[in-house]
Amino acid sequence: MVSIESSKINGILEREESRYVAERPKSQALFERGKKSLLGGVPMTWMNVWPGAFPIFVKEGKGTYLTDVDGHRYLDLCLGDTGSMFGYSQTAVFEAIKDQLPKGMAHMLPTEDSIWVGEELKRRFKLPYWQIAMTATDANRFAIKVAREVTRRKLVLVYNGCYHGSLDETLVAIFEGITINNPYNMGPLFDSPEQMTRVIEFNDIDALEKALSPQDIACVLAEPAMTDVGIILPDPGYHAALRDLTRRFGTMLIIDETHCLCGGPAGLTGEWGLEPDMLVLGKAIAAGFPAAVFGFNQEIGDKLNARIPWQNFFGFGGTLSGNATAVAAIKATLEHVITQSNYDKMIPLAQHLAEGIGKIIKDADLPWYVARLGCRVEFRFRATPPKNGAEALEEDASNEVDLLVDGLTGPLEKLIHIYLANRGILLSPYHDMALISPETTSDDVDYYIKTLAECVNELIA
Ligand SMILES: Cc1ncc(COP(=O)(O)O)c(C=O)c1O
Repeated sequence: MVSIESSKINGILEREESRYVAERPKSQALFERGKKSLLGGVPMTWMNVWPGAFPIFVKEGKGTYLTDVDGHRYLDLCLGDTGSMFGYSQTAVFEAIKDQLPKGMAHMLPTEDSIWVGEELKRRFKLPYWQIAMTATDANRFAIKVAREVTRRKLVLVYNGCYHGSLDETLVAIFEGITINNPYNMGPLFDSPEQMTRVIEFNDIDALEKALSPQDIACVLAEPAMTDVGIILPDPGYHAALRDLTRRFGTMLIIDETHCLCGGPAGLTGEWGLEPDMLVLGKAIAAGFPAAVFGFNQEIGDKLNARIPWQNFFGFGGTLSGNATAVAAIKATLEHVITQSNYDKMIPLAQHLAEGIGKIIKDADLPWYVARLGCRVEFRFRATPPKNGAEALEEDASNEVDLLVDGLTGPLEKLIHIYLANRGILLSPYHDMALISPETTSDDVDYYIKTLAECVNELIA
């Protein structure tokens, strides 16, 4: 197989980085100005994880395209890291929000829309009770709290390499066999994260059984397929074992569908017939408007109903959670956007993209693989897909990604992203992930395949 020399990568990277800077004077000037008042020059430091000397400043997003302040137009395959997975400002959602705005954005009282939303979530995701939060991070935090309440246990179990939001319980990793706080998580207050979390590798049923058997774990918080260190599919039978073992040891199973809504209109829970005790969805659930939802089963609902005097709040949510505007946006998104007919457009195009990337890899004889989960398609720099977080993270080490120097992206990945950005294509910043929205066309997909092939050909020439 062909291996690409570092000197080759660095040479092209230097050229592309210079072009990136030269063609974006307005973004650069805004970034410099921003640094004087905003930490890192941006309203949220996440916006700095993009490869390139500074982030592009957006003028507008329409459908699946972004325009920046310098007048460049991009085919956006990142789509707000799934928040805008169905395309920017979907008409039905935009109209619903616009309709709600003059009626009051948030009243700390329910609107009729919320009843429709509860009933639809119940029908679609097969859990009887729902609550609405502002972000998936919040929803996961609240779900963990509910699990601790109903089990009277403290510990949470997550997978090495997971991401479920900026929650200390989940910003953990396995390093040399020991559970550690994730190196990039600031200021965790615990001497040892083992006081709150047990971490195991995905797809390891023995490790799961061993971790659950002391019966001190409140919940397993799991994505159906891991997505944040690249797509990692469950082995056949893994989910059945996860369900059996969590039931056997009295642990709540929380499925976080935030990214896996790429799989179908009821997420992978719907596609694969999973039976979680609790379910969390965020980001795309309101087509990019800040909102998330979490649902729980009858038993949990009964326990909470018995425990709670309804005049009190009980430690989850916030003043703006479940606000009328977010509820209106969720309703419109469920009704008009997260529909089977949209997936019928998205999935075949995503298949076409995966085949196109597979061909580039094969023709160039590169030790890379392509993976697809519904409308989510990515390639990674190893010959075979990883089975767990440890294997996925090995890839970063072998591609010279130094977390503290490079951030989340190594030189090869950085080069590909900047090369594509210079030719009007945006990939998700910290892996090579592309989302196919219902508005993405086959011409868009072909342009991406062609441009990626040009980049690869230059690298192996
Ligand atoms: C699986 C998963 N859950 C939760 C979150 C947190 O979402 P948010 O940042 O919108 O709170 C993320 C973010 O990427 C995610 O990937």
